[in-house]
Amino acid sequence: MIVLGIESSCDETAAAIVNDQRQILGECVLTQLEHKPFGGVVPEIAARAHLDHIEDILAETFKKARLQPQDIDAVAAASGPGLIGGVTVGVMAAKSLALALGKPFIAINHLEGHALTARLTCNVSYPYLLLLVSGGHCQILIVKNVGDFERLGTTIDDAAGEAFDKVAKMLGLGYPGGPMIEKAATLGNDSRFVLPRPLQNSGDCNLSFSGLKTAVRKIIESYAPDNNIEHAILPKQTVADICASFQKAVADSLIYKLQKALVCYRQKYPEGQNLVVAGGVAANTYLRARLQTLAATEGLIFSAPPVRLCTDNGVMIAWAGMERALRGMFDSLDFKPRPRWPLDTNAPKAAGAGGIKA
Ligand code: KG4
Ligand code: ZN
Repeated sequence: MIVLGIESSCDETAAAIVNDQRQILGECVLTQLEHKPFGGVVPEIAARAHLDHIEDILAETFKKARLQPQDIDAVAAASGPGLIGGVTVGVMAAKSLALALGKPFIAINHLEGHALTARLTCNVSYPYLLLLVSGGHCQILIVKNVGDFERLGTTIDDAAGEAFDKVAKMLGLGYPGGPMIEKAATLGNDSRFVLPRPLQNSGDCNLSFSGLKTAVRKIIESYAPDNNIEHAILPKQTVADICASFQKAVADSLIYKLQKALVCYRQKYPEGQNLVVAGGVAANTYLRARLQTLAATEGLIFSAPPVRLCTDNGVMIAWAGMERALRGMFDSLDFKPRPRWPLDTNAPKAAGAGGIKA
């Protein structure tokens, strides 16, 4: 079986083709640079850019895979959550192809795409404990099966990636902030600044990053003569130290709540032994090392997709499409994109329900 996947829910226009032997036959990602001057993604600009690039990205993906459109068995598209303009572009392209080729369409929850990537790259078996950390989401879940997720914890305010982006913006490091902070942090002292680890006494697995962001803001303000961060003059070493201290605080918070979630995972699945990380923040080398250490201490197998498959890409959508296609889980062509689409309401449908068959 061969599945094409299309991703367009934020600022990457991407497509990929995978087969059921876990092979990536072709992939193409275009990161939109149009947003850089704004320090964040501008939805209208993103939608137009997806429209401008989607055809070329698809053509390039087929070329790399040395396949013709007729060779694929199903077309999957990220159908939410995300920016509605961009999602609509990808969904419309996928539906048009499916209709023209007479192949099934599969609506993929973007988060499910992230969540299942490690099954493609590391052959992880269900049920696994997943830390899903991206620009818009930060959740700890048990992945029991395709479309079967139990959320143990979530952020009550900012997502981890969002916090990286906001802190980078305050420090004038540019967008996206995660890679910039990671780079600066390599030269920094991670214990110079004392930063909070929010919600440690909440007794649950929820997370919070807005207090941490505010604490960083206060430090930056203290370097401005008028307490205005725009006027702050920060020595290079101070920027590095803030980045290192912030990165450590984020990792500490995530690890602390993962340890709590692990108790729950083990109670429910004593045979479970897999810890997986996914989403853009999973590209962070420091966080990956900390998770590896946690797994070693707890006797778990740690899996993380390669860095290029942590941030948004077409492969994750194609693979989630494959997992669904293999189970006959197709969608109707009147599926409406869902800008909001919680992962734990992503229940599987009966095989083939409402779908068109090839
Ligand atoms: O998964 P993703 O590509 O898009 C969403 O679905 O949100 O994640 C993007 C997020 C951004 O916030 C970006 O700053 C963060 O992932 N990110 C990182 C790193 N690379 C990307 N955060 C920390 N360290 C990184 N190396
Ligand atoms: Zn994503």
